[in-house]
Amino acid sequence: MKLAGKTAIVTGAGRNIGEEIAKLFAKEGAKVSVVDMDEGRANAVADMIKADGGDAVAVVCDVADPADIAKMVSATVDALGGIDILVNNVAISDNKDIFEITEDEWRKTIDVTLSSPFYVTKQVARWMVDNDRGGRVVNVGSTSGFKGRPSAIAYTSAKGGVANLTQSMAVQLAPYGIIVNQVSPNMTGSPVGKEVFNRDRKVNNLVGRPGEPDEQAKAVLFMCSDDASFIAGANLFVDGGTMAMAPFSSPATRKDGK
Ligand SMILES: NC(=O)c1ccc[n+]([C@@H]2O[C@H](COP(=O)([O-])OP(=O)(O)OC[C@H]3O[C@@H](n4cnc5c(N)ncnc54)[C@H](O)[C@@H]3O)[C@@H](O)[C@H]2O)c1
Repeated sequence: MKLAGKTAIVTGAGRNIGEEIAKLFAKEGAKVSVVDMDEGRANAVADMIKADGGDAVAVVCDVADPADIAKMVSATVDALGGIDILVNNVAISDNKDIFEITEDEWRKTIDVTLSSPFYVTKQVARWMVDNDRGGRVVNVGSTSGFKGRPSAIAYTSAKGGVANLTQSMAVQLAPYGIIVNQVSPNMTGSPVGKEVFNRDRKVNNLVGRPGEPDEQAKAVLFMCSDDASFIAGANLFVDGGTMAMAPFSSPATRKDGK
């Protein structure tokens, strides 16, 4: 087991990518703090982990609220005994263009998607440093942080910020033995903020299908495990090859008849 003896916080673990990260971490031996602002989802995932023989606690928290984060950190430490790993997975999308989005929607999306990984990491890293613990942090970014999109502007800007937040946190926390990396998905499971996974949704990538949430979870697990012992401040695209494609390339068309 790759995370035996470790404790992990996974934010936005009530659904989709975060849910699979929490479940995979538990299978790999970690005790998991299943953090979500939706109580029903957090409880359901923690219950599934426990029913499967794992160790988990559900913690309801709005990760855009520093006071709530302080309570979440205490609740996690009380229930699990410490924190070795933090996965900042929460994001919301505006799904608007520059003329549609209001200033309030802009601020909210930036706060939840860009500021929250800063708020949460600041408090968790403080705990790690004060307890002489070291640790690992993975930010879940997005291909949207690296390209313009017609249908989102605050989300894309926030994810662009997350890419540098990862590097800045990596530089500033490495002196304390805390290693920070990023995994950047594209088109995986249900779209951000949505419930339904449409496996027929149109994709433009080299694999020819959308990603499964557990494919992101495996990459995040890798970044949190000893297998990534010489990786720091890095971004791993888990995107079916989308970012490798020139703008007008066609999606992968099999030439082997499969
Ligand atoms: N799904 C994709 O195709 C995709 C593509 C690229 C990047 N990503 C990234 O992957 C991560 C997970 O995306 P997803 O699609 O699984 O998200 P999702 O919308 O399916 O789930 C997010 C979870 O976070 C919770 N949440 C939302 N705001 C919160 C807050 N303020 N505090 C606490 N919990 C909150 C929600 O209740 C929900 O359970 C995000 O960072 C997203 O940007 C996803």
